[in-house]
Order: sequence, then C-alpha cells, then structure tokens
Amino acid sequence: MEKSFEKKHAEKERSLILAMESSCDETAAAVIKDGRTILSDVVFSQIALHLPYGGVVPEIASRSHIEKIDLVVTEAMKQAGLSFEDLDALAVTQGPGLVGALLVGVSYAKGLAYALNKPLIAVNHIAGHISANYLAYPDLKPPFLCLVVSGGHSHLIEVRDSGLTLVGCTQDDAAGEAFDKAARVLGLPYPGGPNLDKLAKSGNKDAYHLTQPKISGAYDFSFSGLKTGFINLVHGMDQRNEPYKKEDLAAVFQETVVTHLCDKTMKAVKDFGWKTLALAGGVSANSRLRERLKELCGAADVAFFVPPLSLTGDNAAMIGAAAHAQLIRGETAPYSLNADPALSLNFAPERDPVDLGAGADPHGQDGGPDPV
Ligand code: KG4
Ligand code: ZN
Repeated sequence: MEKSFEKKHAEKERSLILAMESSCDETAAAVIKDGRTILSDVVFSQIALHLPYGGVVPEIASRSHIEKIDLVVTEAMKQAGLSFEDLDALAVTQGPGLVGALLVGVSYAKGLAYALNKPLIAVNHIAGHISANYLAYPDLKPPFLCLVVSGGHSHLIEVRDSGLTLVGCTQDDAAGEAFDKAARVLGLPYPGGPNLDKLAKSGNKDAYHLTQPKISGAYDFSFSGLKTGFINLVHGMDQRNEPYKKEDLAAVFQETVVTHLCDKTMKAVKDFGWKTLALAGGVSANSRLRERLKELCGAADVAFFVPPLSLTGDNAAMIGAAAHAQLIRGETAPYSLNADPALSLNFAPERDPVDLGAGADPHGQDGGPDPV
C-alpha cells in the first residue's frame, strides 16, 4: 500500500479522495479535495425502480448498484478531471444500510484500492451525513451539536475533534421511517417523506390534534406511538366516511414530528449551552424542520447550519468529506474490509457536560462560517 500519504500531506491536511456510497437506493461516487471541496458529485437515484413497489426492494437495489457503480465512478473521475493515479485514497460506506447494497460498494472499492495500491477508508454512513455540513460550510469546525435524522436513524450527537458523543436517540422508529409510513397511509407515492412535505405546504397544521410523543429520556425521541395515533386518526375517519383533506393531515403529522424533534434538540442546546447546531440526514430536507430550527436558533442566538438540498440525501460527497478526517488520523481499512449493515457509530462512553471541547470556543464558531 502507498505509505507516502502521511508524509506528503498530513501537515497541510490535503487530500484527493474518490468516495463511493451504495448503502440504500442511491449509487453515488464523488471526488473530494481536502475534505471540503467537491470536485465531482454523481448520484444515480433508484427512485423510478422502486416506485411501483411503494418502497425500497433490497434485491432490486443491489442489482441496480452492480449495474451502475462502474458508470458512476467513471463519470465522477471524468467530471473531476483526474486520473486514478492522482488520488490519495479511496473511501466507501461500510454501513449501516442494506447488506446486499453495501456489499456492492465495498467490493468495488476494495478491488479498485487493491489494484491501484491506494489506502482504503471505511466510512460510517451517519458520520458521512454529519460531514455534509463541512462541504456546505468549509469553515465549520467542531465542537457543535448535530441532529441527524434519516430513514434509519434519529440521533442527537455532540461533534468534537476528539470524537462523537451520543446525547440522545430514538427509542423506536426513525423520523424518516415515520414520515414514510404516514405518507403511505395517505396514499402518497414512494419516496414518502418528500411527497408528504410537498403536500403539507397547502394544508392546515391545526386542523386536527395529535398527541405529542412522551418519552422519559430528556433528549431521546419516539415516533412509534405518533405513527399509530396518525393511522388511527385516518382509519377512524375512513370508517365513519368523514371527509378530510389529505393536505391537512400531512401538515398536522409533519408539525407534530417537527415539534418533537425541535423540542428535544433545543432542550439539549439550552441545557448544555451550545451555541452551534447543525442538522443532517435525509429528513434534514424537510422544509418545516429547516424553517422551525432556523427560527428557534435565531431566537436563542444559536448559529444554525444545514446542508443545501443537494447534500441532504444520500451522496458520496459526504462520504469523501468524512473520509478526509479519517485519512488525516491514519484510520485506513484493510483490503479484507466487510460491509456491516448494523455498523454503529464510535461513541465516547459518556458525555461530559462540563468540557464542551478542548481549546476551541465551545459555544460558537468565532471567525467561522456564516450560519443560515
Ligand atoms: O439519509 P437518507 O437519504 O437515507 C437514509 O440514510 O436513511 O434519508 C431518507 C429518509 C427517507 O425516510 C425519506 O422519506 C426522508 O429521509 N426524507 C424526508 C424528506 N426528504 C427525505 N422526510 C421528510 N421531509 C422531506 N422533505
Ligand atoms: Zn442516509
């Protein structure tokens, strides 16, 4: 394996990384410079393939990844104007995700890294989502609090130079899963979350009442009771032949989810004195969540960061950004790397409410980027 990287680049923190992502229903490749600049970002979305089934069919996803990965990588290299020899490392999503889908990216990346004799970096998909913020705001630096909400995860995480600390997480379903389920109950096509968001724009969020989730963990989330409450509300009206507007139901459901996410997040912000909050993951595309958190952070004098819509869903650019930090730390993977569908984040065992970050200003981004 090429050993010269650390010597060549560590001090300057420079790198050229080809990243690949295939954890669910997007086949993606990107070339990232120095962990912050996108030289290319190619995503093939499988939405059209899964649309007839109302959700992701794992076998179809794997097959499509196999068909597309080489094309997507070739296009990413072409758009970046680089040859494979120019690269410092290759990066790939190791997990979490669908095992058959992950295996395509991992196998492809291993083969390419071995053939090129370049370092391989295994990236956690959730760490990738967090890192999308570094691409959008190149001056953003840890420490900050991050709400990561996707189809499989809902986490409140403290991001520091020294690592990640879990503050809270969902005790049952993920926020994205809840959006997708509610969308299905309303008969909206896959992908449910974005379609529900669109429909909710013309609805009345106060038309019905849904009970806010109750959960004992101060910074934890719960969506399963809310999901059931919503199903009962809709089915009850169906059975009574009561007329209703789907857009009202969409707006009510969305508002309840967003309120729950915002309440818990802003409680953590306040309790621990955070002055910087970032949002990440597929659900960070939700227009109402973006709007509410921006308002709440504005009122609390907290800097708020959220990636542009082009970087909220699954993409390889965010994987390249996360990989850069790992490369600098010397965290390379062996060529025997395997996909891990249940890969968890490496959390520090306990959060420390006092030490909010060594050296850096714990409560702000002095001289840093302009928040949204
Ligand atoms: O991060 P992501 O693309 O894939 C996973 O890592 O899971 O997140 C996908 C999830 C899906 O549940 C999708 O419905 C949801 O993000 N999502 C949204 C919106 N856009 C995507 N949920 C609510 N509103 C949106 N605008
Ligand atoms: Zn994702």
